[in-house]
Amino acid sequence: MSLKPLALFVKHDGQSSRAAITCAYKCGSACFHEVPNNSDGEYFGDIVARLNRRGLIKGGAAAVLAVGAASALAACGDDSADSGSAPTGSGTGTGTGFTAVAPNTEDAIVVPEGYEQSVLIRWGDAVVEGAPQFDFDAQTAAAAAQQFGYNCDFAGLLPIDGEADKYLLVVSHEYSTEPMMFRGYDKDAPTREQFEIALASHGLSVVEVHGESGSGRLAPAFGKYNRRITATTEFEVRGPAAGSALLKTEADPTGTKVLGTLNNCSGGVTPWGTVLSGEENFNQYFGNAESVTEPAAAARLKRYGVEGGASERRWEQFDPRFDIAREPNEVNRFGYVVEVNPWDAKSAPVKHSSLGRFKHEAATVHVTGDGSVVAYSGDDERFDYMYKFVSTKKVQSGVGASAMRHNMTILDEGTLYVAKLTGDHAAEIDGSGKVPDGGFTGKGQWIPLLETGADGKGKSLVDGMSAEEVAVFTRQAGDKVGATKMDRPEDFETNPKTGKVYVALTNNKNRAKDDYPGVDEANPRKLNKNGQVLELTDDHTGTDFTWTLLLVCGDPAAADTYFGGFDKSEVSPISCPDNLAFDPYGNLWVSTDGNALKSNDGLFSVVLDGPDRGATKQFLTVPRGGETCGPIVTEKQVVVCVQHPGEGDEATPDEPLSHWPDGGTTQPRPSVAVVWKKNGGRIGV
Ligand code: FEO
Ligand code: CA
Ligand code: CA
Repeated sequence: MSLKPLALFVKHDGQSSRAAITCAYKCGSACFHEVPNNSDGEYFGDIVARLNRRGLIKGGAAAVLAVGAASALAACGDDSADSGSAPTGSGTGTGTGFTAVAPNTEDAIVVPEGYEQSVLIRWGDAVVEGAPQFDFDAQTAAAAAQQFGYNCDFAGLLPIDGEADKYLLVVSHEYSTEPMMFRGYDKDAPTREQFEIALASHGLSVVEVHGESGSGRLAPAFGKYNRRITATTEFEVRGPAAGSALLKTEADPTGTKVLGTLNNCSGGVTPWGTVLSGEENFNQYFGNAESVTEPAAAARLKRYGVEGGASERRWEQFDPRFDIAREPNEVNRFGYVVEVNPWDAKSAPVKHSSLGRFKHEAATVHVTGDGSVVAYSGDDERFDYMYKFVSTKKVQSGVGASAMRHNMTILDEGTLYVAKLTGDHAAEIDGSGKVPDGGFTGKGQWIPLLETGADGKGKSLVDGMSAEEVAVFTRQAGDKVGATKMDRPEDFETNPKTGKVYVALTNNKNRAKDDYPGVDEANPRKLNKNGQVLELTDDHTGTDFTWTLLLVCGDPAAADTYFGGFDKSEVSPISCPDNLAFDPYGNLWVSTDGNALKSNDGLFSVVLDGPDRGATKQFLTVPRGGETCGPIVTEKQVVVCVQHPGEGDEATPDEPLSHWPDGGTTQPRPSVAVVWKKNGGRIGV
């Protein structure tokens, strides 16, 4: 078994470097399907496109758009050249003092000089004591339910009180990739055992990890908290959807108990010591949606991208809950923010319907001065929305059982909002990415959709929808109030030093294409393939904010990129921002998913304040075929999840594209890695 020749960067969709197999298993090929949001939105680009279709504009605004398109395409064309080299050393504020890693296609994690790395835990490693040793060719569902799951995405590190350098590592397992997991996998005839292994390979892992004195290395350990949560673990539903007719099924007539969690993408650690995880592309697991013909119900399925016919994994063949023809409501029981209390291995995790149902990338919490909790969450779909939830209750401090009991009800009571943005320079936005004087800036409002009271019951703030409907069909509530259609809103993160909120917008190849919604100032590029990072100045609990684009990503040599005003000859190329994190010094760290610049995905530091604002440097790259997820940046270490290493359209277990992390002739294994500075120094200092 040898390493396949490099067959990466097949531009299957004309945009990112993601392989088609990754699209199929990760997100149900969302980017190949019709955009689910066809609601009306009166943006400049939409109006122009509509008038154009009617032949009402021949020049003027339409001509401006056309020029913009040409510029954008020209800029994208530059990507065929090898993109950029490492910056020369500007922008080395505290925490970003390392030599940038150059773009590359190595089958390795590449880190700056002077840094070391190790693999913390791999797919198949024991999570629960007594778990069988991983054997790629002899997997069982029972073993998988005790081992580290597949395709790690979010990672959270929670210090164990009173135990120096000991932590709980909580990791989500977004999806299974059956053709990579099983030799000779037949997608038209999967076996029951493969189905059950896949169920057990989803969910989350809770693992105790121990530090090593003198370095940042972390190693897994067995402890009383270690736990696997899978696609069959019992969850409790809370909030306005709990007990609603929309959630009742034959197996659960109460509409309050759901088996499992699916497609858990990113997440967040709460200040009270729990972990939030976003159920993202849940739609792809359900088959036979065409059986629903009642127009309103069919429209709801369509709005969530739930399609007819067989699902990719054919799970509906093995369990009726995945067959919409037999169990039409099971699909309504996924698409929530889930909360896991990792300090109680027996606790039922919670699905919080008060935060709405959509393709939650994650949920990240900010606590205001008065103890109110604000949970931000993006709906990762082209032309979908940004949301926040503001709690009514205040956080209780302390780590005791009483504080935990109180704090685990905070997300049960409050108000859910969706964002509407306007630009300050709307007339100048032509789709080319040309930066207006003063930058891409604007204002925004949070429009309330749903209030959840102390009794868990909801009050709808959207005409024509009940509270239960807003909680379960939140996308349609956003449509009704004219929320702003964004370029795939992914992770949110609040700067602990300044309170400003950052949002990764990954890409949107359909922006301003044909009849699709046009550009606006927050989503300023036609056919946006490299994404942008948005900065919000939000008062958190209120309804108004201002915003600016921090980064308009891509090759810094291309005209359509912007790095906060920083000298573009001094930054690393960055494409498809996805997950965000902060280091202890207030620098933003950005990981990428689907680099469209012919390099492996990576992790970048970005300086936010002072003269170096916008200085962007690549800290590491992940092995070929992989995506960089779950970054954690502490004083001593950088932790990343390497998701889908070696996943490629030409790759099979007999002809792997990657042998990371074990080398030789081994299969690639999604794994968590840790990087530290030699001799135990501080990261980036
Ligand atoms: Fe699972 Fe939005 O990435
Ligand atoms: Ca993501
Ligand atoms: Ca991602």
